[in-house]
Amino acid sequence: MESEEVLTGGNVAAQVVRVGSTVRKPSLPQTAGVEAVLTHLAERQFDGAPRTLGRDDQDRHVLEYIPGALAHALPPFSPEELRRVGRLIRELHDAMDTFQPPSDATWHVLVPHPAGGDLICHNDLAPWNLVCNDQRWVFIDWDNAAPSSRLWDLGYAATAFLPFVPRGDVEADSPRLRALVEGYGLNLEQRRALPAQIAARTRGQYELLVRGHRTGEQPWARMYAEGHADYWGPTAAYIEEHHDDWVTALVSERPSSKG
Ligand SMILES: Nc1ncnc2c1ncn2[C@@H]1O[C@H](COP(=O)(O)OP(=O)(O)O)[C@@H](O)[C@H]1O
Ligand SMILES: [Mg+2]
Repeated sequence: MESEEVLTGGNVAAQVVRVGSTVRKPSLPQTAGVEAVLTHLAERQFDGAPRTLGRDDQDRHVLEYIPGALAHALPPFSPEELRRVGRLIRELHDAMDTFQPPSDATWHVLVPHPAGGDLICHNDLAPWNLVCNDQRWVFIDWDNAAPSSRLWDLGYAATAFLPFVPRGDVEADSPRLRALVEGYGLNLEQRRALPAQIAARTRGQYELLVRGHRTGEQPWARMYAEGHADYWGPTAAYIEEHHDDWVTALVSERPSSKG
């Protein structure tokens, strides 16, 4: 029997293990929907997600193991890398455009889209869920795939990848946000709308942690205790406070100079 290596780096899944060239994750109510998403992405030749390989004899979800480094363990992305991740997210959303969810799919919704959502998205596009190697950049951890929207998904990725931090530096953050958005290729109307979506999605993450703290729901209660809300709350405040600066940075004619 092949040995099992416990994979760390996640916050949520009870136990993620590597077995040879595969990863095994506990099956969850949403796993069938996740399998449908990953099958669709493979059919669309999108290589920024792991292949789904069925279930094992312990009913665990079997996935392709992606060798490489978690982006979270690397230095923050350069503007060029932010462009690349923006492009990758665009390809993902375009590929999902033709997805027909199974009628009985059960999704695990992290922070509901205010209007319900019009596209099945990843919803946790972040350096802690991106594996990078010389050939591919691959988003892992699809358990929060659910109805969402392009801007809701990209807005969360903006906070996580720039990253936005409490009391950040607007001059430094503006061209980085613009690089991500240029990589994605948002139109003018979407550029005007994105900053409010980044703020609301970031605020929603804070509220998720606060609610977990109140109700005891895991892993949010534990993550609140570990101080995660102290990041998400003040970060949301910073993004909200500079809403107009972000819009200006995204719609101005001047090409972004830095990188
Ligand atoms: N397909 C994969 N290829 C390589 N590493 C993976 C893969 N899936 C998970 N991992 C590793 O296991 C860790 C936890 O898995 P993840 O799916 O992100 O679980 P969680 O829901 O706990 O965040 C990741 O941070 C990563 O290091
Ligand atoms: Mg994860």
